[in-house]
Amino acid sequence: MPDSASNLVFDAALALPCEAVVAVIGAGTMGSGIAQVAAKAGHRVLLFDTRGGAAEEALRRVADDLARLVAKGRLDEQAARAIGSRIACVHAIGDCVSADLVIEAVVEDLQAKRELLLELERVVGERAILASNTSSFSITALAAKCRHPGRIAGFHFFNPAPVLPLVEVISGLATSQDVLRTLYATAQAWGKKPVHAKSTPGFIVNRCARPFYGEALRLLAERAGDPATIDGILREAGGFRMGPFELMDLIGNDVNFAVTQSVWQATFHDPRYRPSVIQQDMVAGGLLGRKSGRGFYAYGGDAQPVCARTETACEAPAAIVVHGDSPAGGTLAERMRASGIEVRRAAAHATLGDGVIAQTDGRTATQRAVDGGVRDLVVYDLALDYASCRRIAIAWADGCRRDLAGAAVGALQKCGMQVTQVDDVAGLCVMRTVALLANEAADAVTQGIASAGDIDAAMRDGLNYPRGPLAWADDIGVPRVRDVIRHLAQHYGDGRYRVAPLVARCAASGMRLGTA
Ligand SMILES: NC(=O)c1ccc[n+]([C@@H]2O[C@H](COP(=O)([O-])OP(=O)(O)OC[C@H]3O[C@@H](n4cnc5c(N)ncnc54)[C@H](O)[C@@H]3O)[C@@H](O)[C@H]2O)c1
Repeated sequence: MPDSASNLVFDAALALPCEAVVAVIGAGTMGSGIAQVAAKAGHRVLLFDTRGGAAEEALRRVADDLARLVAKGRLDEQAARAIGSRIACVHAIGDCVSADLVIEAVVEDLQAKRELLLELERVVGERAILASNTSSFSITALAAKCRHPGRIAGFHFFNPAPVLPLVEVISGLATSQDVLRTLYATAQAWGKKPVHAKSTPGFIVNRCARPFYGEALRLLAERAGDPATIDGILREAGGFRMGPFELMDLIGNDVNFAVTQSVWQATFHDPRYRPSVIQQDMVAGGLLGRKSGRGFYAYGGDAQPVCARTETACEAPAAIVVHGDSPAGGTLAERMRASGIEVRRAAAHATLGDGVIAQTDGRTATQRAVDGGVRDLVVYDLALDYASCRRIAIAWADGCRRDLAGAAVGALQKCGMQVTQVDDVAGLCVMRTVALLANEAADAVTQGIASAGDIDAAMRDGLNYPRGPLAWADDIGVPRVRDVIRHLAQHYGDGRYRVAPLVARCAASGMRLGTA
């Protein structure tokens, strides 16, 4: 693919030497963390903030964090003192004259950042690199008025910067390749895992993660389940560290909503990123999440814990038919056999018979039963690993006899899973989420935003996803992922569910997405 972010070759020897001076402008949450990272790597760091006392407060936060690391035995006292002593607060931007690298982490305001870059150009030497930690602004737009736009790049750390390994190194249209190479190698030298991305709304992570929140909000809007139920399914079947609602509450619904809106607006209202009216209303009502004491969940002393909805115990049948010949169906069948149930596999092309369970293909169970000319059908959701998952989501067709639905529940329970019945929504929860994460990632590959390997790594290292979405789609089977999205598109008649060209291509050719 021409002009791809993945065409750059990086060389560790290009990292800034330890003697290089790093200036961090903006001493808030991110600025203090980035200062700590740079000082730990051996650089002298100049910290500046326009708010009086902010840089000193940041220095105290760094000292507290270092003291915590010493107390936990992760850092020795002498090293902690040395790191702290390398950070100096400065009180005028002109004091950053000696900086070789400036990282701005001021408030997310385009005008403020543009003015700051112009001012920095007047202060620092011509060879200094000017990097922005912006979460959402186009690097091209930030650099537009600068005299030397080639030295301006994105250097996007994740919160908390001293802990999370991912750094997105972002190129605008004018960014020089030398600058990108230096930043990439420097991030590596600082112990981070850099990925290179071309400037695009949301860069890699904030763009490719949108379906994780968007699909959960849509499932909630359709009353597939409550937040605790959907979170439980994504965590315990999908293997995600946190469910989407608990994560939105942690990030702050205001911040999460603002990022979605910014990506949606920057893409001329592409329906794939359409924000949710539920979240909009919550932000308007001050239900921001943990920080306001209430979001999708209640926090504080009197908050009651809420659990995922779980089916009560049902009797397991002596025998069951698992439809489809995918490896996933095979793993599930094995787990059922091991629990003493007689399992028959029906090939994917076989017609559906009554009393069958089948992995979701993106249709509702009801639609699939009608299409297959049967009445009783139970569909089960995707799991990260059918051999070990603790929970599984299922739905049954509207006409399905309750005793047969109960038998499917009993069979899954007998092999040690908690079973959650959700309303008969298209594509269930994990399957629909993972298919759309992979679809989004595939589009970013097609557009040359980043390589498939970098996108998968970014989603794992920046967001702790259990798998990169592209490699995960390869395991599910790209034709199945394509079919799930096609069926969602048919179900909703919405451009939000359009199959990415690369998904269509890989499904047709047998090529793997993870190596595309
Ligand atoms: N907080 C996050 O989770 C996170 C993650 C990644 C990136 N970011 C990005 O990092 C940047 C900073 O975010 P934050 O959360 O640290 O914000 P913050 O509000 O904690 O800190 C911003 C600091 O910048 C200072 N400031 C504002 N204008 C200034 C100027 N012209 N010169 C010097 N200082 C100035 C403010 O006084 C404040 O101390 C933003 O661009 C944000 O989008 C934030």
